[in-house]
Amino acid sequence: MKNKILVIHGPNLNLLGEREKSVYGSASLQEINKKIKALAKELKVEVEILQSNIEGEIVNAIQSAKGKFSAMVINPAGYTHYSVAIRDAIAAVRIPAVEVHLSNIYSREEIRHKSVIAPVAAGQIAGFGVNSYLLGLQAAVGLLKK
Ligand code: DQA
Repeated sequence: MKNKILVIHGPNLNLLGEREKSVYGSASLQEINKKIKALAKELKVEVEILQSNIEGEIVNAIQSAKGKFSAMVINPAGYTHYSVAIRDAIAAVRIPAVEVHLSNIYSREEIRHKSVIAPVAAGQIAGFGVNSYLLGLQAAVGLLKK
């Protein structure tokens, strides 16, 4: 369990690289995952990465993280703005979570300005494209050392 970090990509992030490139950039999810894994190696932590379009699957993954992972990095994507179930799962397992977003959700449509996840996250990183994940991973590793 020591130094193991779970990375969760929420709905539609499997379409990165083809979806709204002007907002999310041209990197595919596979390319992003490659960068996450390379940084994890550098930082000497283990990462497990999953993507799901299904809210319940994300809730299940968070619940099963208990005892297996010391921190998580999560981009809840569209669920950010209304999933009380994902928020409750994070609060329940009490594994520190870093919320990340490729785009700056606060400079976009008003429906994206509210994150129901943020109050239960250790912190949030938004607006830096692929770097949001890399900064998020660094933040998660920082939390392990606390
Ligand atoms: C997102 C922002 C969300 O508002 C949106 O629904 C996403 C991606 C981001 O990474 O910028 O799917 O989480």
